[in-house]
Amino acid sequence: MATSSSYPEPQPSTAQVPSDIDRSSIPAHVACVMDGNGRWASQRGLPRTEGHGAGEVALVDAVDGALELGVKWLTMYAFSTENWRRPADEVRYLMGFNQSLLQRRRDELNEKGVRIRFAGRRDWRVPRRVLRQMDESAELTKNNRKLTLTMAFNYGGRAEIVDAVKALIEEGVGANKIDEKAIAKHLYWPDMPDPDLVVRTSGEHRISNFLLWEIAYSELVFPDVLWPDFRREHLYEAVLEYQRRERRYGGLES
Ligand code: IPE
Ligand code: IPE
Ligand code: MG
Repeated sequence: MATSSSYPEPQPSTAQVPSDIDRSSIPAHVACVMDGNGRWASQRGLPRTEGHGAGEVALVDAVDGALELGVKWLTMYAFSTENWRRPADEVRYLMGFNQSLLQRRRDELNEKGVRIRFAGRRDWRVPRRVLRQMDESAELTKNNRKLTLTMAFNYGGRAEIVDAVKALIEEGVGANKIDEKAIAKHLYWPDMPDPDLVVRTSGEHRISNFLLWEIAYSELVFPDVLWPDFRREHLYEAVLEYQRRERRYGGLES
């Protein structure tokens, strides 16, 4: 754990899947904006970085909750293309933290049948050692199929759309051949289904450049909890809320 002893060691949850969850309508893809780490730390008089460290248990607990539910795809927003605007110290911490988290957790995730992937730009600002750890974690887990955990890292929804358009142009695809299917096929992971459910913690009700293309018809849920306090029971609550929604995709209710 990348945390000090100034607060109790964060613990995983032992909550059970609620009996009223409908097992026949579990979202295939849940995407999370892990927000509120800085505020969690400030509330305790700690530096912001301690909040990121305390978010590790929340991340692993969310993965365990997703596995319990049978969610097949879980996407976690870990670092946005806009997060480079933060103070250099925090950015440096986040780079190192993401690298060491993978190092600490990749074997247990592998044993649980989790395939780890990354979505985002591999640009010069991401240190080489971080890229190496990402590649090794992806390679180690590439044959797992129980759950695909996509870490959105140096990820921006607009950047992803720009990159897709660039790829189309580089392939010489004519304007008459460009449609929604063509763009979707050139996103970072064309095999990834669109999220059914997006969960953003911390009370902020915005998307902050997350999966802009993919969330066109996602259900959005905003649990009032800071990310380091998020546990599988919050995921179960969000899925129950999802199951109360009616998805219409622009049509009429059935
Ligand atoms: C989310 O927590 C983690 C990242 C953006 C990397 P924040 O760091 O945004 O925490 P708040 O929103 O300032 O509380
Ligand atoms: C979104 O949170 C990015 C991540 C959780 C990685 P931010 O905290 O960066 O978003 P804003 O700045 O509040 O919109
Ligand atoms: Mg934030």
